[in-house]
Amino acid sequence: MTESSPIATLSPRRHGANIGQPLTRRDGILKVTGQARYAADNHPPDMLHAVLAVSSIARGRVTFLDVRAAKAHPGVVEVMTPANRPKLAMDPDEKANPFMFRMEVLQNDTVRYSGQPVAVVIAETLEAATEGAALLAPRYETEPARVGLDDNDIFITPAVGAGTPSEVRHGDVEAGLAVAEHRIDATYETPAQYHNAMEPHAIVAAWDGDSLSIDMPSQALAWAQQRIAGLFGIAPENIHIRSPFLGGGFGSKGVMSGPQILGILAARLVGRPVKLVLRRDQMYGPVGHRAPTRQTFRIGADREGRLTAIHHHVRTATSTFDDFFEPSGQVTRTLYASPAIATTADAVRLDTGTPIFMRAPGEASGSIALESAIDEMAHAAGIDPLEFRLRNYAEIEPVSGKPFSSKALRECYAQGAARFGWHGRPLAPRQMRDENGLLVGWGLGTATFPAIMFEGHARAVLRRDGTGLVETGAHEMGQGAWTALAQIAADSLGIDLDQLEFRSGTSDLPDAGIAGGSAHTATAGIAIHGAGAATIAKLAELAMNDNRSPLFGAGNAGVLARRGRLIRCDDESRSESYADILARAGLPEIEGSGRGACDPAATGAYAMHAHGAVFAEVKVDPELGQIRTTRLIGAFAAGTIINPRLVRSQYYGGMIWGLSFALHERAVMDPRSGRVMNANLAEYHVPVNADVPSIEAILVEEFDPYVNELGIKGVGEIGITGTAGAIANAVWHATGVRVRRFPIAIEHLIGSEAAL
Ligand code: MOS
Repeated sequence: MTESSPIATLSPRRHGANIGQPLTRRDGILKVTGQARYAADNHPPDMLHAVLAVSSIARGRVTFLDVRAAKAHPGVVEVMTPANRPKLAMDPDEKANPFMFRMEVLQNDTVRYSGQPVAVVIAETLEAATEGAALLAPRYETEPARVGLDDNDIFITPAVGAGTPSEVRHGDVEAGLAVAEHRIDATYETPAQYHNAMEPHAIVAAWDGDSLSIDMPSQALAWAQQRIAGLFGIAPENIHIRSPFLGGGFGSKGVMSGPQILGILAARLVGRPVKLVLRRDQMYGPVGHRAPTRQTFRIGADREGRLTAIHHHVRTATSTFDDFFEPSGQVTRTLYASPAIATTADAVRLDTGTPIFMRAPGEASGSIALESAIDEMAHAAGIDPLEFRLRNYAEIEPVSGKPFSSKALRECYAQGAARFGWHGRPLAPRQMRDENGLLVGWGLGTATFPAIMFEGHARAVLRRDGTGLVETGAHEMGQGAWTALAQIAADSLGIDLDQLEFRSGTSDLPDAGIAGGSAHTATAGIAIHGAGAATIAKLAELAMNDNRSPLFGAGNAGVLARRGRLIRCDDESRSESYADILARAGLPEIEGSGRGACDPAATGAYAMHAHGAVFAEVKVDPELGQIRTTRLIGAFAAGTIINPRLVRSQYYGGMIWGLSFALHERAVMDPRSGRVMNANLAEYHVPVNADVPSIEAILVEEFDPYVNELGIKGVGEIGITGTAGAIANAVWHATGVRVRRFPIAIEHLIGSEAAL
């Protein structure tokens, strides 16, 4: 947690005026006025443009590139191929941990997937580089592409996600199924999805000897620094990464990708700064995706609708050259009580880029299948889906047997149901129509996401003029980190926000950990909280040991830090300003540092998750099968809410992603070429405003004494998890057609047995 404070009476829950306030984004004006500078907005003097040439086959070898034609093009300065690529200090296919991904950086002529970089053209202008890349006209030796879940041999996955066990068994599933009164055996399929952040991956790289300056969006600055340091054989502190804003990342900017390394290599090769920005279609391959899954459930329940067994088997895909396995079974290990639970996994290797973490990795794909299966089970048992979930409410985490550090899911169900008007919902499907004759359905999904922390650090300073400074390399990726973390910072120092300078977004600052796993506010926030507390503790020591201070001798009673003053806890009339304390001590400033990380004792003893319940209404045209989501209400409990305005916005974003998962998103692969055929934002569907109904997010109160000192859980990803299933269940309730292949589309409804 934080560095130990010498003043034990400084309350760690010293919430000041800022935590909990619905402040607007500190970066809002910069963004709407175009002043926020993203990586690709940088143009250092003498900069060249680099454009990737990418493979149009999925498997084989590059046999020819017309480098001469490309180099002859006016403006082209250099063409980088495996023949002249600068050497790396380490094999890019070396892998030391699950967060390190293998990459294609022109190490040889092998093609592993469609869209893989095969050359880089560097030119004076973007146009010249683009034209040069087209002139390369690669020729290939081609082998058949394997891009479907049935296209290669199945193997048991070694571990899934970030290294959790592939197989988990608790109780006797076969015995539980044998005694069940009701059974569901069903298979669900989820498609490959691509991150599609608004801002494509970009890099502007400039070398100065062995020192490297980079502008690049990153969700994990210190990791990026380490990875680049390893590949180029230089010291991490010689790598300066600026990443003040990200236009989204969703996991794909959490690890270094091949194209970014190629930008750095290109700058090395030509000895000038180089900018490399991916085109939208180039985002479908070398920077990760969510793998497709085929998930089979076998579930049993007794006469009263209590689960007797759940078996969740997940088949997924990875690339031919790396190991990342979508951990879809995780939700099943934590969400519902059952005497027997098993989650198993296997996978197939495909000629695609390597899948990686993508927004609720595993939880999103696993949840839509689990929530659909639970809904099917409730229907088979003849029980209302909400009542069924309450009957199987997990009072402890079922597989681990640990108590929850906090769990206000019952309140989420109750508040969401009341607000939605769930009561009175007909059990049978196809019972409701609106005034225009459209079929109406109501569905429910339980949301869950683990509350984790990475390790992060921060530094705080109080200055003699009464202002404060807090520094941490945190990542503002649209979620509002600048704002929420500054709120924590101001409270940690006991000053007003306008007295605080908050510095963030570069790798030269203390490592703030990773903006991922919905863990950024907790990780960086606790580091900041600790840094502020350590600073205040030093200041308090100065005052309390000085007989000229009104705080002299306050030792046992302790002091509070508020609005730039230290105040005696036993007598609030006795206080002194920070400025006065520092002036008398003859100090220009005083500083402290803090660390945020999970407490192994607490995570060993407790299961830590955020929870929620999402209620959806859909309307389906009985003739056309067109589906519209018309209402979405989510009630979420995620511990301490630092900024309710930003948290609502996170929930809305998550819920819209859930809607997208249920009804829109899918990468369509061409089985012959192995290409993603809809590699653009016109045909890769995500919801637009017209697809998004009235959305509400209810912030359910929850106090968690164990997750960390401020009680913060994550809010970024949980919204996806309940929503996708809620919408799928609402579609069934409207139509009576159970679609088990996502996204649910018109053809599933009008082409099905129970045709509309
Ligand atoms: Mo993420 S997959 O936590 O950006």
